Amino acid sequence: MDEELIKKADTTYRMAEKKAADYFKSLSVQLKNKTFTEITKDIQSWKQNHIQHHSLLSLFYRKKGKPDDQEYHDYIQWLDYTGKLDDYLDRSISYIFMRDLGKSLNSPDTEDRIKRVVINLKKQLTHSATTDGGKTEMYSMAWLYRMAQEEDVESTMIWLIGKLKTVSSYIPKGMDADEAKRKLIKIIAGVVIHQVEEMGDEISAEERTQKLDEAIRLGYSYGLTYPFIDDILDSEVLSDSEKKQYSELIRTTLITGTVPELEGWTGNNKDLIRYIHSELSNAYNYIKAHLRTKTTDSFFEQSYVFFHSQEVDRIKDLSNANYTNEDLYIPIILKSASSRLIVRSVISASEDEDIDSNTFFYGIYNQLADDFADMFDDLEAGAVTPYTYYIKYHDKRKDLINPFELYWTVIFNLIHNVYHSDTKVSEVILDRAINGLKRFKERMGDKRYNEVMGLFAPGNLKFNKLIQNMVRKANNVDFFDKLLRDHMITNFNNERKEREDFLDTIEMVRNQINNILHIPKVNLQSFMKEPITDAANYSLEGDGKRIRAIMTWLMGVNEYGLDKEAIIPLLKSLEYMHTASLIFDDLPSQDNAPIRRGRPTLHQVYNTAIAELTGLYLTQKAVEEQASLVQFDANTVLHLIQYSARMTADMCKGQAMDLDSKGKQLTLEQLNTISFYKTGIAFEASLVMPAILAGKQELEMTALKKFAYHAGIAFQIKDDLLDAEGDEALLGKPTGKDVENNNSTFVSILGAEGARKAMWEHYCLAMEVLKEVQHHTNYLKHLLNYIVNRDN
Ligand code: IPE
Ligand code: IPE
Ligand code: MG
Ligand code: MG
Ligand code: MG
Repeated sequence: MDEELIKKADTTYRMAEKKAADYFKSLSVQLKNKTFTEITKDIQSWKQNHIQHHSLLSLFYRKKGKPDDQEYHDYIQWLDYTGKLDDYLDRSISYIFMRDLGKSLNSPDTEDRIKRVVINLKKQLTHSATTDGGKTEMYSMAWLYRMAQEEDVESTMIWLIGKLKTVSSYIPKGMDADEAKRKLIKIIAGVVIHQVEEMGDEISAEERTQKLDEAIRLGYSYGLTYPFIDDILDSEVLSDSEKKQYSELIRTTLITGTVPELEGWTGNNKDLIRYIHSELSNAYNYIKAHLRTKTTDSFFEQSYVFFHSQEVDRIKDLSNANYTNEDLYIPIILKSASSRLIVRSVISASEDEDIDSNTFFYGIYNQLADDFADMFDDLEAGAVTPYTYYIKYHDKRKDLINPFELYWTVIFNLIHNVYHSDTKVSEVILDRAINGLKRFKERMGDKRYNEVMGLFAPGNLKFNKLIQNMVRKANNVDFFDKLLRDHMITNFNNERKEREDFLDTIEMVRNQINNILHIPKVNLQSFMKEPITDAANYSLEGDGKRIRAIMTWLMGVNEYGLDKEAIIPLLKSLEYMHTASLIFDDLPSQDNAPIRRGRPTLHQVYNTAIAELTGLYLTQKAVEEQASLVQFDANTVLHLIQYSARMTADMCKGQAMDLDSKGKQLTLEQLNTISFYKTGIAFEASLVMPAILAGKQELEMTALKKFAYHAGIAFQIKDDLLDAEGDEALLGKPTGKDVENNNSTFVSILGAEGARKAMWEHYCLAMEVLKEVQHHTNYLKHLLNYIVNRDN
């Protein structure tokens, strides 16, 4: 590497270090003078709004109890009913403006912005709590997509959804994929918020769209460094020598401004590193290309300071008894400040010294609050933080600063020196600080909490008493971002469990279905050849997903409680009808396809006549099976057969429409109709037939049909996309067939991007319909995710 460049980076770091050292020095002086105990005055006036004087109303709610914080929607509703929502949101948004955006809270402009954001957020929250029963979760894919639509950035959102999927798939064991995803979303949201504040209101719609698109991509590009630089180096995924090699790669990039080629990686982590290298290179180059010249330098400087301070911090060893206070605190001042300052340079925000200095001073507050909350995890991991180090060495090292005292010193300094005793700032920081302690106490239990306080509480009795009093009694100190965070973690956890459960279930059901499909051969007279049964079995044995029969099983058995054995004929009939439709669809007179379910198509193995007869044979076998649903009421079964026959007839119409549309410029409406007839109907039937057997009412049927309509079309769009850009090896059927046949598909009519948008639109519509289905709909939700995410 160029010596000059290394020197330059070094100087940059030293300058940053100097600034951090000055800050630290001023904090230590304040700490020595016990200035922080002065904060008792602030708390005395703060507590007026936080210690409840019991009115009858509050007694009533006390008795009723505050709903569990996990129950996000209930909680928001409760805040709304008790008239606390406005304050709650105001405090939360003000905090974000101060911490994340570096704003002072006393300018009329900022006050106004905060007010408007609060009003919007309140509308959203109370809206979703009532009209959609809270079914589209904040941060669910459907919610994100709808938000993106409102801002005209659907394409960017689709791009991001794809990225998040790939990132998750590469997060190795030993790292937390959900956590990585959550952090990424958080960083992206942060960058978007910055961009929104930066661009103001007087901007054209196109410009706004373009800026939001850029912010999402920049946010992703920057956010990627969290899982793929910091977290991976913190984890045990790479060996020590790999970590060294990898760190060098990043350092070289940041010093030279160019990503070096990936050389000399072998071993188990080769594919992972190759992916990370290429994704980070793209991200880095994207950011570089979007920097405006003015902010270029500060971006490179801050990135280097961020990375290097993390490294300095990371290599610390808890068994080293000789770190000075400066060793402990300066790197964390640097990393916590630079990680936030970067965001502004990433979006090339205009220079603003106030914002920069507020942000710089604020960083360590957050770091100390986080390290406090995580002290036991960190201790277990052997990580050096001010808290873990103090726990270990405070006995022997009387010179060590008590990080909890420093924490309150930082708070005092922020309120009085950085924000000039602004009352609003004092209000929200104290809310936040007391809330942090309350949360910690709740999580750890009283005993552990008291132990911690026994160690960290400052020598000043009056101060301690007041703080502990507040932790016990103060209320109205909680924050929306914390609620959202908890909610997302719970949600991601639940979703993951549900998804695993769903995938296990469909795997199990698929195996069961595979075992019952075989049609036994009835011996005709021995001199007669009978290839039809063999032909039918050949098609049935192929590697089908069995998704329709699986849907029937999930709804029938799991939701409607039908007997597993009793519905076997129905499962068979569905797969027989579906396989028949594929045999016909592949015929030379239709799509003329050579491969299906990973093997030659039936008419290739036999001939067209046999294939046609087998298709017909299978539809009749399907009716035969339906007529053997002997454990159900005869009229119900008749109704089912009637329905099924009508649906099969409609599918034929759909296939005919499809063939007739070759080369035609269809409207979206026509396209939807054709897809519904050729594909959607089978999805409808898979859900409606078990509902018929379960004697479900019209209302449920209508909801199921609506769901199936959108899920079916989404399925066909995905099929069209896979034909255009899928992987043949995974797909089990050839790609490019639609172009070859001049078929009118979603891709040919709307283009790939348009098709993806249409697919996500139907995805959202289907998700939104789910709340009308009266039964548990987890399975349908995961089915839908499966449909849009599948590779075959
Ligand atoms: C293919 O259906 C026909 C379409 C409706 C697009 P599947 O994709 O469910 O095919 P298999 O049953 O898994 O082979
Ligand atoms: C066929 O759609 C729908 C039915 C089989 C009824 P496609 O023609 O797109 O299905 P594939 O791609 O051949 O599976
Ligand atoms: Mg076709
Ligand atoms: Mg086809
Ligand atoms: Mg197709």
